[in-house]
Amino acid sequence: MSGRVRVNASRRYDVVIDRNVLDEAGERIRAVNSGSVICLVTDDTVDAIYGARVENSLTAAGYRVEKFVIPHGEESKTPENYLKLINFMAGKGLSGGDAAVALGGGVVGDLTGFAAATYRRGIGFIQLPTTLLAAVDSSVGGKTAVDLPGGKNLLGAFYQPELVLCDCETFKTLEKQTFRDGCAEIIKYGMIKDAALFDKLADTSLAGSEEVVMRCVEIKRDVVEADERDTGPRKLLNFGHTVGHAVELLNHYELTHGSAVAVGMAVVTRASVKLGFCGAECRDELIKLIKAYGLPTETNFTAAQLAGAMMADKKRSGRTIDLIIPETIGRCVIRKTPVEELESFVSAGL
Ligand code: NAD
Ligand code: GLY
Repeated sequence: MSGRVRVNASRRYDVVIDRNVLDEAGERIRAVNSGSVICLVTDDTVDAIYGARVENSLTAAGYRVEKFVIPHGEESKTPENYLKLINFMAGKGLSGGDAAVALGGGVVGDLTGFAAATYRRGIGFIQLPTTLLAAVDSSVGGKTAVDLPGGKNLLGAFYQPELVLCDCETFKTLEKQTFRDGCAEIIKYGMIKDAALFDKLADTSLAGSEEVVMRCVEIKRDVVEADERDTGPRKLLNFGHTVGHAVELLNHYELTHGSAVAVGMAVVTRASVKLGFCGAECRDELIKLIKAYGLPTETNFTAAQLAGAMMADKKRSGRTIDLIIPETIGRCVIRKTPVEELESFVSAGL
């Protein structure tokens, strides 16, 4: 099964979901970009597995390819690498009609997107996501950024890609935990918007399938089209993330993002049941599904520690924090919560 999702945001583009579509990258990019040079950005791990295939396909489509490789991992999503990349593009003579192509996970995608958004005030940008998380989340919707010492994603821009090519075959080479991190995001989509997707995920073998990836991308598309600049309903995508970020911070980022989000979804849902926002069945089904994917649902941190870390979250506005609260499976709401109530809320979820 292959598919295509059309995103109608400040730029209109397709997300193509198919197996082995990386081999068609050149011709498919040629259809949306008439430039002559491609800056292919990737990390060392992804480059070793997929770099040559993509480079060959781009060359066959008539592009001169200039490859920029970063070490893998979040530590590479820095202003220093951003500037190195920009200088690399300038040194290779990329002009306004040329493009940057991100081949990799969310780290490569976010860094490349920010460089593409700002080099010469914006050049072509194409995403080739190779992690499940990047396929269902970071490659779609136009959030681009690098991290600052003061926090993650603090320097960035909204910049939609011209095309996303998602090759589900690439998930086969992911480390187990990296795949699981993407599963947490898929469970999130089921919880916030689609009970049928949630039910389907009981068959864990479907997590990286084209069918499931496409449904997640459709949900993300709908949310992004409703609120591209993240001032309202897009915040629903943060379900589990505010508590999750606190867990990550307190763990000094030793727990993976997906695991932290899984804990966050469980904490918020347990609290929501105690406070009467949703039924116990919703909590029990969510926790069962999270566990089926080998993800955690508990944390040893105290409510005071978690609430303290949540207060440092950049998404806080003044004296309230937006919590994403489940009402039932497939429906969540944004609830402005006074910061004074955070600790007791979290305490109800532990
Ligand atoms: P990542 O990019 O660090 O990739 C995880 C690891 O998997 C890396 O070591 C990478 O080398 C390896 N890898 C990637 N593809 C592979 C493959 N097919 N086979 C083998 N190994 C492979 O992490 P991620 O989880 O993809 O993305 C996390 C980043 O995404 C964070 O920086 C986060 O802030 C960002 N993010 C952005 C958005 C957005 O909307 N822009 C949304 C969610 C997350
Ligand atoms: N991953 C959150 C967003 O795109 O808004």
